[in-house]
Amino acid sequence: MEYKVAVAGATGNVGREMLDILAERQFPAREVVALASSRSAGVEVSWGEKTLKCRPLEHYDFSATDICLMSAGSVVAREWAPKIAAQGCVVIDNSSAWRYDANVPLIVPEVNADAAAGFRGRNIIANPNCSTAQLVVALKPLHDKATIRRVVVATYQSVSGAGKEAMDELFAQTRAVFVSDTIEAKKFPKRIAFNLIPEIDVFMEDGFTKEEWKMMAETKKILDPAIKLTATCVRVPVFIGHSEAVNIEFARPISADEARAILREAPGCLVIDKREPGGSITPHEAAGEDATYISRIREDSTVENGLSLWVVADNLRKGAALNAVQIAEVLVNRKLIAPKKKAA
Ligand SMILES: NC(=O)c1ccc[n+]([C@@H]2O[C@H](COP(=O)([O-])OP(=O)(O)OC[C@H]3O[C@@H](n4cnc5c(N)ncnc54)[C@H](OP(=O)(O)O)[C@@H]3O)[C@@H](O)[C@H]2O)c1
Repeated sequence: MEYKVAVAGATGNVGREMLDILAERQFPAREVVALASSRSAGVEVSWGEKTLKCRPLEHYDFSATDICLMSAGSVVAREWAPKIAAQGCVVIDNSSAWRYDANVPLIVPEVNADAAAGFRGRNIIANPNCSTAQLVVALKPLHDKATIRRVVVATYQSVSGAGKEAMDELFAQTRAVFVSDTIEAKKFPKRIAFNLIPEIDVFMEDGFTKEEWKMMAETKKILDPAIKLTATCVRVPVFIGHSEAVNIEFARPISADEARAILREAPGCLVIDKREPGGSITPHEAAGEDATYISRIREDSTVENGLSLWVVADNLRKGAALNAVQIAEVLVNRKLIAPKKKAA
């Protein structure tokens, strides 16, 4: 059975990764269509060995397409996801537009694949925020063992999480520092080169940022509404790879050795945890990889049943494109959708 798949946002950071991952994982697609804004009509992108020419999303007829992997931002998703879904094409959206809708499942396949069946409400499935995706992959197996009560997390998020223009800004500013040129900040509120910025997304009334709120709300929706989570999200001058310093309080005792053994067996996790110089994973090493890496696993004696760990993943892959393709695989492998008939 082969499916017709559209990638909307195909010229973007996440869209290009989606096309690569569909090819790498040999997703059963008979045809892949690349869509972007009308500005990019005719721009060429790769799907495996094939070159695809981008078409404008607004003129595309989805009635013969089975799955739309969408990474074109919230504004586009809010308007277009329902229109695409109404044409019988399942939308897997990467933006925050649909994540908190009670009729839209929010899925990380290693954690809550069973909830994907709920997509029929709106024909839309949401992909979580990049920081949440890697966090819940690491938390789920520990939660199953000892029940998490509270999580305190500080993130170190790469610029690719803010799109391709943000990567260009880090590059341009870094170059400007070396050649003593003027440093321009357009995408970020302050200089990001050789610096870091303790705010991601807009401020909420309580002083937290929207990115921090997303981590809290999405962890509850995906993993367990009883988990309390507080976050500080920080943008750092790294191109690809989000890192997280995580402190967890459990209901029951769990040792660092137990946690290490559980995480070694857990789907999607890879433990790199040598207590020696260079024995931990860094974002540079996680870039281009599929795993969620866990290092620095240690007991925290300042709280009851406490553990600390370091979690790193490629935000464009597990944080976005890979997770979206894994969701599509769940739909196919569990026979939740059947391909539409190929047009004669
Ligand atoms: N980057 C991450 O780590 C990450 C993680 C999780 C979720 N996400 C989400 O994924 C989405 C895309 O992120 P990104 O990093 O790939 O951004 P990006 O690099 O800026 O790419 C944005 C894409 O959206 C397309 N687009 C913009 N306006 C459009 C329109 N009116 N109609 C059709 N296509 C349009 C762009 O096409 P043009 O080139 O034609 O403008 C481009 O292909 C965002 O919602 C983001 O929040 C990103």
